[in-house]
Amino acid sequence: MLIKRPRPGDTARIAPSEITPERVYVSRRELLQGALALGAGAAAPALALGATQRSLQFARNGRYSTDEKLTSYEDITTYNNFYEFGTAKGAPAANSGRFKSMPWSIGIAGEAEVTGTFSLEDLLEPHALEERIYRMRCVEAWSMVIPWVGVPLGAVLKRFKPTSKAKYVAFKTVLRPDEMPGQRSRVLAWPYVEGLRIDEAMHPLSLLAVGLYGKTLLNQNGAPLRLVVPWKYGFKGIKSIVEIRFTERQPPTSWNLSAPHEYGFYANVNPNVDHPRWSQARERRIGGGLFDSRVPTLMFNGYEQEVASLYAGMDLAKYY
Ligand code: MTE
Repeated sequence: MLIKRPRPGDTARIAPSEITPERVYVSRRELLQGALALGAGAAAPALALGATQRSLQFARNGRYSTDEKLTSYEDITTYNNFYEFGTAKGAPAANSGRFKSMPWSIGIAGEAEVTGTFSLEDLLEPHALEERIYRMRCVEAWSMVIPWVGVPLGAVLKRFKPTSKAKYVAFKTVLRPDEMPGQRSRVLAWPYVEGLRIDEAMHPLSLLAVGLYGKTLLNQNGAPLRLVVPWKYGFKGIKSIVEIRFTERQPPTSWNLSAPHEYGFYANVNPNVDHPRWSQARERRIGGGLFDSRVPTLMFNGYEQEVASLYAGMDLAKYY
């Protein structure tokens, strides 16, 4: 986000034939264990990683899905921001082949009655997977429509019984410079961290995603587990999460630490608050046609009805 780059050429493209959603029904545990066994093997090149993908069993949540045209699987998986793998849009797809997303465990810490380290399977086991088609808006003024598969974040968090001191939830990405070449550069302070207020985290729209287009996430999209908060700029959607911590104080966030005048803690999509270096009034729909690709940006990314009450009485120009 420091550097605006044109879309790279044909790096690490995935054949459109791969995007056909397969509705193969396997249990979540079976699925995750299968991915685990395959992920334990030798490092694979980025495209071969597709072979470790599994189809997911899920039900579409219509209430929380837009009917806008989906962005193609190819665009969603090759036009990425994941600075751990480089800053160019094609870098995450090209450079994430050595990243091992299985086995995976997540630390639950801080102000909660239940804390500890949990395998991804144990974290997800009690929850049914949902598909939710969300509009996603990047702070760089481009957007996509993505069919995520995941579980409501609030339902997962509740199981750990946050105490009354839990006012915020802090998230951390894995730190593995051996597998994440971008972490060997100082473009951001590593590991990447993000946070939400507890009521934002508990909001029904907040999702912990494990897949998209019906399949497990590829590394470039934040395998095996990432945050999706559709009314906020994309940088809140922290990828490859290894720790979730309940805190009393507002936690630091990577982009706010890096450029506090440009990126606030809240990061709510707001067409009326420009980024200091560019307008936020409109956005470029990735994959849109030549004439229809620039569309007006909506308050809270179009989720105003659902989330505006979270910010009642707040000056949204000050708390950007
Ligand atoms: N998470 C980590 N760990 N590192 C990152 O660089 N980039 C963020 C967010 N999550 C980022 C991250 C930004 S700026 C965006 S727009 C989204 O991921 C992009 O998600 P996508 O590539 O899956 O569309």
